[in-house]
Amino acid sequence: MASPILFFGLLAFIFIAALASDPSPLQDFCIADTNSQVWLSCFLFAMWWSVAVLLNGLACKDPTLVEANDFSSSGLHIAGNTSNPAGFSMASPILFFGLLAFIFIAALASDPSPLQDFCIADTNSQVLLNGLACKDPTLVEANDFSSSGLHIAGNTSNPAGFSVTSAQIPGLNTLGISLFRFDYAPWGVNSPHIHHRATEILTVLEVFGSKPQIPSDVLVKAFQVDNNVVNYIRSKF
Ligand SMILES: *[C@@H]1O[C@H](CO)[C@@H](O)[C@H](O)[C@H]1NC(C)=O
Repeated sequence: MASPILFFGLLAFIFIAALASDPSPLQDFCIADTNSQVWLSCFLFAMWWSVAVLLNGLACKDPTLVEANDFSSSGLHIAGNTSNPAGFSMASPILFFGLLAFIFIAALASDPSPLQDFCIADTNSQVLLNGLACKDPTLVEANDFSSSGLHIAGNTSNPAGFSVTSAQIPGLNTLGISLFRFDYAPWGVNSPHIHHRATEILTVLEVFGSKPQIPSDVLVKAFQVDNNVVNYIRSKF
């Protein structure tokens, strides 16, 4: 508190930062490139001068270099060393608020709102964005807005008994919309997962005619209908 101007400066900075919204994660995954030099230099720059260049987390790794280890972690079974003081102390308010401000800086790193109606994905671009870079508008063609192949069943010969086929529609790039076909083998599962801040609409086909049968009580509960209705629909298959 010996330096009220610095203190209020930091406080003001915190409130500026509080205007930040959570980033909309436009893609399901952007594997962190922990070696990205771009991010490190932005980090220093952002800390002292500006927040505009800090990315939404870390820069994305080149998708062709992504490996299974990027989705796992180890070491959580090892107890941490708790032989330390309680952490932050109010004896150092400037450091505390400075760190707090820094936390909110990170929250400023949001994705841009998709301001354009369309940004056709340029799948050949080497630039790794949150989404894909836009194709030259003069090269956009009708095919960029359509997809085919969703009528073909996916290969479910895998341990999960499940497959996902995505509709490749470059015109949906940055719009936060995607379309998939799921196929389940008998007893197949889609492992528990989340899509950040996304809404998923599923159209379920072949539930009532599935072999083996899905137990009636499951269908009664899932569709909130009477057992007679379940039997009636089953009779149609
Ligand atoms: C389905 O996947 C399995 C396992 O990868 C493979 O052995 C099999 O050939 C695939 N079947 C088809 C029709 O592609």
